[in-house]
Amino acid sequence: MAEISAGAPLIREMRPSDLDQIVEIDRKVLGKSRRDYWEIKLRLVQNRAQFAALVAEIDGRVIGFIIGGASRWEYGVPENVGWIDTIGVDPDHQRQGVAKLLFREMVDHLKQLGVVSIRTFVKRLDWKLLKFFEEVGFSQGDMVNLELDI
Ligand SMILES: CC(C)(COP(=O)(O)OP(=O)(O)OC[C@H]1O[C@@H](n2cnc3c(N)ncnc32)[C@H](O)[C@@H]1OP(=O)(O)O)[C@@H](O)C(=O)NCCC(=O)NCCS
Repeated sequence: MAEISAGAPLIREMRPSDLDQIVEIDRKVLGKSRRDYWEIKLRLVQNRAQFAALVAEIDGRVIGFIIGGASRWEYGVPENVGWIDTIGVDPDHQRQGVAKLLFREMVDHLKQLGVVSIRTFVKRLDWKLLKFFEEVGFSQGDMVNLELDI
């Protein structure tokens, strides 16, 4: 059951002071630490109006995050299309509806930015993420992923 009733996390805007906790969750879900990446990412999302960056917090601890934004014509995609860039929930708090709460709040933020459709990329074998995005309503889009080894 994905819904949270009692003790629901607070969903709020991401702050620079969340850096350490986000880096730690990211390390837990990815298996490697990316502090430099997150330092740059946090600065970027704080300074650009087209991004929305949210965290889920319980008892003052960050347990999940999501970053999304409106397109700036990346890949020829117009501004009324939004992207989910990153989502992560602390493994100790997964399957409790946290990602769903983060996603719903992100949808509200993206609507305010004029977004009417959302896209994201997921690896074909990333079962958890695929199941999650399917659960919140995504289906396969019409963009084609191309690769070239150089
Ligand atoms: C995918 C992820 C965000 C889901 O977070 P979550 O808080 O556990 O998700 P929710 O509890 O909101 O799940 C909502 C629904 O998604 C689906 N789902 C989520 N995790 C699932 C899993 N492990 N297996 C199958 N379905 C899953 C289910 O339908 C679930 O509803 P249910 O619990 O009622 O069955 C989380 O597993 C995660 O952070 N994974 C790593 C993500 C990652 O690699 N990010 C890139 C680096 S930042």
